Amino acid sequence: MIKVGFYQFCPVFGEVRANLHKIVEALERANADLLVLPELCTTGYLFTSQDEVNELAEPIPGPTTLFLENLTRRKNLWLVLGMAERVGANGRSPLRCYNSAVLIGPDGYRATYRKAHLFLEEKLYFVPGDTPFRVHDLGVARMGMLVCFDHFFPEATRALALQGAQIVCHPSNLVLPGKGQQITRVRAMENRIFWVLANRYGTEERGSKKLTYTGASQIVAPNGELLAQAPSDSESLQIVEISPSEADDKRVTAMNDLFADRRPEMYNLTR
Ligand code: ACM
Repeated sequence: MIKVGFYQFCPVFGEVRANLHKIVEALERANADLLVLPELCTTGYLFTSQDEVNELAEPIPGPTTLFLENLTRRKNLWLVLGMAERVGANGRSPLRCYNSAVLIGPDGYRATYRKAHLFLEEKLYFVPGDTPFRVHDLGVARMGMLVCFDHFFPEATRALALQGAQIVCHPSNLVLPGKGQQITRVRAMENRIFWVLANRYGTEERGSKKLTYTGASQIVAPNGELLAQAPSDSESLQIVEISPSEADDKRVTAMNDLFADRRPEMYNLTR
């Protein structure tokens, strides 16, 4: 059995140091093996210019991952968080930014996943991800990362599940009420995997723009059952015990195994 969870909070736009301190203060009292934080949780989400993104994004590994490593090493913790990643501008390649998820563990920085499916105005400020969907063996479990809108594309989850992921870690800033929570339950069920959705809550208002995030972070079992769910509008740290190997059993009836019964020769997915 391992302990997995999420920390749902309301990052303050542009206040990276304050957001990081809030995260560490909350996680300091957590007893878990694997925790997930929301998308873009160090910077906030509602950018209004490319300059703002360029200024707030950071290299990975970089100051934020180094800061959080202190926590993950001390607490023997695996941590997944969403953050803005800056690449290039070093004379060889132009500056570009990704909406990324980072995996940091007991030995420090491990991996980055760059969001493949950009949502709304993210398309103005971020480059679509170029990191293939990959599974990471943490010793305690095999996991993969998706970022928010990626959950709308079933192939992304399937790619992770077919590689053996037992848990999907899903930093999010969901804005369509109820949708993401429903979709991720279905993704968990149709792949028979665990799912940790870490959403943020609160409203961001920047200039003429305003977004309200839907909270309701959740942990889902391979049968679709909700193991934990946060309120829609307040801070919440929730941790549950799971047995990751439950996700290796893809049977839904005595005669149906969801992976063995697939018919990939009929799907023609490359169009
Ligand atoms: C989203 O992808 N942040 C909705």
